[in-house]
Amino acid sequence: MHGFRKYGIGVLAALGLSATAACADIPLPAPQQKGGQGIFTTLESRHSATPADFPLKNISMQELSSLLWAATGENRAGKGWTVPLAMGNAPYNRIYVLNDSGIYRYHWKLNRLIEVSRKNIKNEVGLQGIVGKSPVVLVFVSDGNVRREYAYIATGAMTQNIYLAAASMGIEGRFVISMNENAIRQALQLKENEVPLNLMLIGKK
Ligand SMILES: Cc1cc2nc3c(=O)[nH]c(=O)nc-3n(C[C@H](O)[C@H](O)[C@H](O)COP(=O)(O)O)c2cc1C
Repeated sequence: MHGFRKYGIGVLAALGLSATAACADIPLPAPQQKGGQGIFTTLESRHSATPADFPLKNISMQELSSLLWAATGENRAGKGWTVPLAMGNAPYNRIYVLNDSGIYRYHWKLNRLIEVSRKNIKNEVGLQGIVGKSPVVLVFVSDGNVRREYAYIATGAMTQNIYLAAASMGIEGRFVISMNENAIRQALQLKENEVPLNLMLIGKK
């Protein structure tokens, strides 16, 4: 839990992290970056979890790490990301992970979950019962520094990558746009210019 101790305070500041936040991070296992079934077989099976599939069962941290890497991990030996981003900017959409233990922000550079809070808010963020019946709910949030269209295009690419990685790994997912924006803003401690874009429900049958 104290993986940031090896970094100096200066490095933490450069990454936009406080020493307090640093004590609550969860290092993720290395994501799967090779193998899996071929892309055309995966495209043939890509689907959304149906309401009858809920409640879904939990996924492992390794599987979560692989899904997050698919969404905005670094690729090409650190020269790019798994999704196209406007003007080659670093990821301007953040992914928050909600589970039974709390709220975390995915840090793509460090492959870590940064703790935001220890509250389980899964039942509050959606407008459909299936949201709270997902062991993992991902919340996609624009950092507000790019045009709104760029944020939505990026979230489409990120979530499609998750759909494909999930199909390849036998994991269920569902893109959800109906959400309780006020509850999300409050729980995720978002600034005014940061914009919740959509949810993605994740789990296993
Ligand atoms: C822009 C968009 C918004 C969506 N919003 C919701 C939603 O709010 N709630 C929900 O249950 N599913 C939502 N979905 C999931 C779609 O209903 C689902 O993708 C569609 O039924 C097709 O199923 P498939 O993904 O298995 O092909 C959304 C999908 C997209 C692309």
